[in-house]
Amino acid sequence: MSSNKQFDVVVIGAGPGGYIAAIRAAQLGFNTACIDEWKNDKGGPAPGGTCTNVGCIPSKALLQSSEHFEHAGHGFAAHGIGVGELSLDLSKMLGRKNAVVKQNNDGILYLFKKNKVTFFHGRGSFARASEGGYEIAVAGAAPETITGKHVIVATGSNPRALPGAPFDEDRILSNDGALRIAAVPKRLGLIGAGVIGLEMGSVWRRLGAEVTVLEALPSFLGAVDEQIAKEAHRAFTKQGLKIELGVKISEVKTGGEGVSVAYADAKGGTKTLNVDKLIVSIGRVANTTGLNAESVGLQLDERGAITVDDDCRTNLPKVWAVGDVVRGPMLAHKAEEEGVAVAERIAGQHGHVNFNTIPWVIYTSPEIAWVGQTEQQLKSAGRAYKAGSFPFLANGRARALGDTTGMVKMLADAKTDEILGVHIIGPMASELIAEAVVAMEFKASSEDLARICHAHPSLSEAMKEAALAVDKRTLNF
Ligand code: FAD
Ligand code: NAI
Repeated sequence: MSSNKQFDVVVIGAGPGGYIAAIRAAQLGFNTACIDEWKNDKGGPAPGGTCTNVGCIPSKALLQSSEHFEHAGHGFAAHGIGVGELSLDLSKMLGRKNAVVKQNNDGILYLFKKNKVTFFHGRGSFARASEGGYEIAVAGAAPETITGKHVIVATGSNPRALPGAPFDEDRILSNDGALRIAAVPKRLGLIGAGVIGLEMGSVWRRLGAEVTVLEALPSFLGAVDEQIAKEAHRAFTKQGLKIELGVKISEVKTGGEGVSVAYADAKGGTKTLNVDKLIVSIGRVANTTGLNAESVGLQLDERGAITVDDDCRTNLPKVWAVGDVVRGPMLAHKAEEEGVAVAERIAGQHGHVNFNTIPWVIYTSPEIAWVGQTEQQLKSAGRAYKAGSFPFLANGRARALGDTTGMVKMLADAKTDEILGVHIIGPMASELIAEAVVAMEFKASSEDLARICHAHPSLSEAMKEAALAVDKRTLNF
C-alpha cells in the first residue's frame, strides 16, 4: 500500500453533501481530496451518491417520462392532439434515465477537475489519528493511505428493509431496483406511503401497473399540512393508486412468480396482497459501513447516525459529518447546505444552515411542496396565526395548462403578519415554493408578498393571491 498524500481536507463520500463540501473547500483554497466508492455498470466511478445514481435524479427522469406517457395517453386529446396508438419502449425510457444519471456523474468529475479536487475511487476508512490529522485508507483498484488535517464524513444512507424480507432487487425492491424494473409489472405493491412510495408508485401506475400502497400510520402524509394531505389523498386515489392506511405487515413471502404480503388492516382483519413486485420504502438509515469509525472513536447515536452538534462537528476534533449520515431531514439540498457550511467553518467563516426554511417537495402529479410550519404544528404550539389560500382553479395560467388541481396556502403570524409556513399542492409546486423560501429567509410578511408585482398569466400569481387571502382580500376568487 503506497502512502502518503497529505491534504488539508479529505471528504469521504461524493453524494450531494460530500461533493459540494469538497468543491467549496477547494474554492476556499484548501488542498482537497474526495473519496467515493460508487461504481457504474462498467466498474468505473459514479460520483453523486444516492441522489445521482438511485435517488433524486433517476426518479425525476422516470417521473418526467411517465408523465409524458400519461399525457400522450389521456391528456393530449383535450388539446385537440391525436397520437394514434400509444406504445411504450420501456428499455428506451430506462436507457434515457441512465444517460441522465451518467451526465450528472460526468458533470461531477468535471467539476472536481475544474476546482482541483483530487478524486479517489474506492472505499475510505479511518486508519488512525496521526499528528497531522487523520490517516484514511482508500481501498480501491490502487489501495493507498492519505492524510487529511480535516475530515468531512458524508457517507449517506441506505434503504431500510422490512424485518424478515431482505431486498433481492428482483421481487423485493429498494429504491435501486424500483428504478430499473425491466417490464411493467401487472400488480405492484409498495410498503410505505412516504415520499418514495408516492413518487415510484406514480411512475409505475402511469406506465400501466395496478398499484397498491400499504402504510402503517393511520393518517396519510402525516408530516404534511392536513388540508394539503387530504387534497393529495383525493387526487392520488382518483388517479387509481390504492392506498391502505393503518396496516400492520405480518409476513412477506416470495414464491412462484410473485410476492405475497400478509397484513392486518386498520380494523384488525387479516388480509393478503399478492403482487408481482414489491417496493419497500419505509425510510432510510444512516450509512457508516466500512468507515471503521470505532478505530478512531467516532461517536454514533443509538440509530447509527454520526453524532454532531448544530455545526456538524463530531466528537473528534477536525472531523465533521454532513447529510443523510447525520440528524435532520434526508434531503439532497440539506446535505449540500451542510457541506458548504462546514467547508466555510473550516476556513474560519460563519457557515449557516437555516433548518426552518428547508423546502420539501414530493414530485408527484400534482406536486406537493412546503416550507415552514403546518397548521397543525402552529395549533399545537398555541401560536396565533392567520391562514389564506388560493385555488389553482381560479388561476388563468393553470387553466391554460389544463392543470387546475390544488392550491397555495399561506400561514402568517396573527400579530406581526410574518409568514410562518407556505404549503402548495398543484402544478410546478417544486418551483413555486422557492419564492416562499426567499420570503421566509427575509422574514417577509404576507403583505410584503401581496404587494409584489407577479407576472400575468403565471402560476406564481397564486402565491400573491394566497398572500392577499391572508388579509381576506383576494382579487380573483
Ligand atoms: P449520499 O447521496 O447517499 O452519498 C453518499 C456517498 O458516499 C455515496 O456515493 C456512497 O457510495 C459513498 N460512500 C459511503 N461510504 C463510503 C466510504 N466508506 N468510502 C467511500 N465512499 C463511501 N432528496 C431531495 O432533496 N430531492 C429529491 O427529489 C430526492 N429524491 C430521492 C429519491 C429517492 C428514490 C431516494 C432514495 C432519495 C431521494 N432524495 C431526494 C434523498 C437524497 O438522495 C439524499 O438526501 C441525498 O443523496 C443525501 O446526500 P449525502 O451526500 O448525504 O449521501
Ligand atoms: P419516508 O420516511 O418518506 O416514508 C416512509 C413511510 O413508510 C412512512 O409513511 C412510514 O409511516 C411508513 N412505514 C414505516 N414502517 C412501515 C411498515 N413497517 N409498514 C408500513 N409502512 C411503514 O421514507 P421513504 O419514502 O423510504 O424515503 C426515504 C427518504 O428519502 C425520505 O424521507 C426523504 O427524506 C428522501 N426522499 C426525498 C424525496 C424528495 O425530496 N422528493 C424523494 C424520495 C425520497
